[in-house]
Amino acid sequence: MNELPKVELHLHLEGAAPPAFIRGLAREQGVDLSGIFDAQGNYAYRGFVDFLRVYEAACTVLRTPRDFGRLTRAVLEQSAENGVIHTEAFVSPDFCGGRDLGAWREYLAAIREAAEEAERELGIGLRVIVTCIRHFGPDAARQTARCAAETAGDFVTGFGIGGDEGQGSKADFAWSFDMAREAGLRLTAHAGEWGGPDSVRDALDHLRVERIGHGVRAIEDPALVDRLAEDGIVLEVCPGSNVALGVYPSMRDHPIERLRKAGVKVTVSTDDPPFFHTTMRQEYDALHRTFDWDEGVFRDIAATSARAAFCDAATRDTLL
Ligand code: HPA
Ligand code: ZN
Repeated sequence: MNELPKVELHLHLEGAAPPAFIRGLAREQGVDLSGIFDAQGNYAYRGFVDFLRVYEAACTVLRTPRDFGRLTRAVLEQSAENGVIHTEAFVSPDFCGGRDLGAWREYLAAIREAAEEAERELGIGLRVIVTCIRHFGPDAARQTARCAAETAGDFVTGFGIGGDEGQGSKADFAWSFDMAREAGLRLTAHAGEWGGPDSVRDALDHLRVERIGHGVRAIEDPALVDRLAEDGIVLEVCPGSNVALGVYPSMRDHPIERLRKAGVKVTVSTDDPPFFHTTMRQEYDALHRTFDWDEGVFRDIAATSARAAFCDAATRDTLL
């Protein structure tokens, strides 16, 4: 089952940067980033807020469109090696050249060029979900939504929100999501990772998203689980991320199987693979080992992911 074609819906482009790639850029720029790596050269952080700090520090060396082009190629090569045929990457203009919003189109063009080359050479498709950062606040999010709306099309197909779920409220971002929706973008929001069921409800009611990033803590409220199942809301579940960051102590404790059994549309993604020492193959292996998922389950998951992909119908049909 590990050789099945995979569709990944939740991957942060910057968060997928291999540590060696970031170290290489730091060296080129004469920047000392040694404090964010451990003795083995992996990203070193303690808990979620510290993870965000290390993540943002790594992003400071992503300075030019060329850096993003090279990053896109490196990330897609790894995904293709894991059997991924379509991936949707969160890209935050806030992290492009230290928030160089005026040059957003240039960053995007470099990402697109690398993606088109990877599609020709490696057979993997990429779509971009422009993502605002919750702890940067609603004003920054509005500007990010403007970037997204101006470049909405067949490559930038979605808008989302990540960052510290503990700060602010979802309703503060409704304006940005309305703008993105009006531009024809499809919507997803991180919720129910650090926040409980109310956070997921807020994402549905205020941001009116069709997918939820994580969403796993919905399991704490049976009425919400029923609502997700009835409304066909798709959860972008990232089990390895949740265990690595301590949302759940182990894979055995992870609610993905209970959500699936309750009829919720679950999918499987890696989030930020090098931070969490994971890959799509490892996620599939762990789910097989822990919950005894067989090939039929993985085929269902891939089909659910393909149907929920933020791409046009013709592309979607090639994934099914
Ligand atoms: N949650 C919130 N924000 C993020 C994450 C995450 O798992 N990964 C990168 N940014
Ligand atoms: Zn995420």
